[in-house]
Amino acid sequence: MRPVATLFLAALAAATVQATAPTCSADDKCPEDYPCCYSGMCGVGTYCLGGCNPLDSYSLDSCAPEPICKNQTYTFTNMDNAILYDHYLGNATEYDWVYSGYPKIQNDSLWLTMPNGTTGSLFALNHYIWYGKISASIKSSRTKGVITGFILMSDDEDEIDYEWVGYNLTSVQTNFYFQGIENYTNEVTAAVSDGDTFDDWHTYTIDWKPETLEWQIDGVTMRTLTRNSTYNATAGRYQYPQTPSRLEMSLWPGGSEAEGLGTIEWAGGLIDWNSTDIEEYGYFYAQYKNITIECYPAPAGTIDDGDVSYVYTSDSGLSSTIELSGNSTVLNNLEDTGLNMTAGSKVTASDSSSDSSSGSSSSSGSSSSSSGSSKSAAASHGQWAVQGSLVAAVAAVVALSSL
Ligand SMILES: *[C@@H]1O[C@H](CO)[C@@H](O)[C@H](O)[C@H]1NC(C)=O
Ligand SMILES: *[C@@H]1O[C@H](CO)[C@@H](O)[C@H](O)[C@H]1NC(C)=O
Ligand SMILES: *[C@@H]1O[C@H](CO)[C@@H](O)[C@H](O)[C@H]1NC(C)=O
Ligand SMILES: *[C@@H]1O[C@H](CO)[C@@H](O)[C@H](O)[C@H]1NC(C)=O
Ligand SMILES: *[C@@H]1O[C@H](CO)[C@@H](O)[C@H](O)[C@H]1NC(C)=O
Ligand SMILES: *[C@@H]1O[C@H](CO)[C@@H](O)[C@H](O)[C@H]1NC(C)=O
Ligand SMILES: *[C@@H]1O[C@H](CO)[C@@H](O)[C@H](O)[C@H]1NC(C)=O
Ligand SMILES: *[C@@H]1O[C@H](CO)[C@@H](O)[C@H](O)[C@H]1NC(C)=O
Ligand SMILES: *[C@@H]1O[C@H](CO)[C@@H](O)[C@H](O)[C@H]1NC(C)=O
Ligand SMILES: *[C@@H]1O[C@H](CO)[C@@H](O)[C@H](O)[C@H]1NC(C)=O
Ligand SMILES: *[C@@H]1O[C@H](CO)[C@@H](O)[C@H](O)[C@H]1NC(C)=O
Ligand SMILES: *[C@@H]1O[C@H](CO)[C@@H](O)[C@H](O)[C@H]1NC(C)=O
Repeated sequence: MRPVATLFLAALAAATVQATAPTCSADDKCPEDYPCCYSGMCGVGTYCLGGCNPLDSYSLDSCAPEPICKNQTYTFTNMDNAILYDHYLGNATEYDWVYSGYPKIQNDSLWLTMPNGTTGSLFALNHYIWYGKISASIKSSRTKGVITGFILMSDDEDEIDYEWVGYNLTSVQTNFYFQGIENYTNEVTAAVSDGDTFDDWHTYTIDWKPETLEWQIDGVTMRTLTRNSTYNATAGRYQYPQTPSRLEMSLWPGGSEAEGLGTIEWAGGLIDWNSTDIEEYGYFYAQYKNITIECYPAPAGTIDDGDVSYVYTSDSGLSSTIELSGNSTVLNNLEDTGLNMTAGSKVTASDSSSDSSSGSSSSSGSSSSSSGSSKSAAASHGQWAVQGSLVAAVAAVVALSSL
């Protein structure tokens, strides 16, 4: 029911924020000093990279330009091309993926895990896709309250989803959003035949074109959305996903006590942390392999000033106002922003971290929602359960439990 989207954004929100981090929205944009709006909070550095919302930021160029689409099949034999989200500086050539939580490689697959009491894992592609065909072989997690995700998410919150709710292993939910606008009729359940979603590999495809969007399972089209069907006559616009998007894979606790009632209900109820997977392995898990990205060309008429990045040029966030640019996507360091990406001295990704103590991905198995600050942080961060505190210092950080 509820967009998983904001959860992802929040998982990546961290890095440097003010002790009293300004909030942001379309009507209340970020101040120049903290120009980047990320999941409703203003900041610099990580806030200006993937997930930075140009429409709610200080200006359209506050967020760093978005790395352009790359044709690629990803297999998983190691994590060399992945980096912890708050070490990433925007160079998608150097690191294809950013992550948070507890991912690991096993059996030539990417396993996203959710240890007992944690908020799970997120794995996001740094190359944006502006129309394309995206396929992966996936085995979902299982158990009520446990949500597996495979979605496309744009920086102004256009979204195309597959979501598996762990109580039902013979279906997957398909959904889409335009600029984050909730509409329950957009969610459609698709049956998965031939075994189930946990025990068996199935190939899930999103075929996203400017005029049509298809969800395909094992090569069979389960749902088609036409752009025309999304026309809003009052606003004079198509409410169709249309901006460059990142692929995000996730395993998260929809049935966590930290979630709203609607989300818990949608997830099938509260998670049983004593269930089989926790007892046997110590975590819930979802598996992904051979992910293929085929980039479609930019829509006819797109202004083409280069082949490095996508940039927003209008507050409308409409497809017709996205441009191709030659501008770099890389910040010199985590104090920089899109307003001047080379203001600070250059550091390497391996040196960079908003907080070295929050850097380790898998050493702390702490539980998610026990700390005092958790609730407020979770609320303002769209409820990705956050542990830790806003440290009152110049470079305060939000330390996420799962990091
Ligand atoms: C990005 O990383 C690649 C590979 O490490 C490197 O060749 C390139 O110079 C980097 N680009 C920038 C802008 O730092
Ligand atoms: C790894 O794959 C093999 C062969 O398909 C299978 O027998 C084994 O159970 C898998 N291991 C795990 C941990 O899934
Ligand atoms: C799972 O979803 C399918 C399709 O909506 C439905 O037919 C089936 O009854 C559901 N199963 C469970 C256990 O909820
Ligand atoms: C949801 O979308 C449908 C189909 O496009 C549309 O008819 C309906 O008005 C929308 N409802 C809301 C509440 O936005
Ligand atoms: C969408 O609507 C326009 C105008 O009515 C029409 O020209 C076009 O063929 C339609 N496109 C599709 C894919 O149906
Ligand atoms: C259509 O656009 C108008 C004006 O922006 C907005 O108030 C309305 O909620 C939109 N309708 C839908 C179904 O999204
Ligand atoms: C899990 O089982 C243990 C031992 O049986 C019990 O003490 C505990 O309360 C259970 N925890 C939950 C979260 O159900
Ligand atoms: C998971 O954690 C809860 C709370 O600490 C505990 O009650 C439960 O026994 C744990 N589950 C397992 C299978 O260890
Ligand atoms: C991906 O893996 C699945 C399951 O092993 C296999 O059926 C499929 O052919 C593979 N696809 C590609 C493109 O390698
Ligand atoms: C990706 O591959 C397709 C053909 O499969 C090609 O048309 C397209 O130009 C390629 N795009 C990029 C960005 O390499
Ligand atoms: C590219 O960067 C230059 C220099 O920072 C800037 O003037 C220009 O507006 C940028 N172009 C786009 C399309 O954002
Ligand atoms: C970015 O900041 C550096 C260091 O202050 C300065 O030298 C450079 O001129 C600035 N670049 C732009 C485009 O403002």
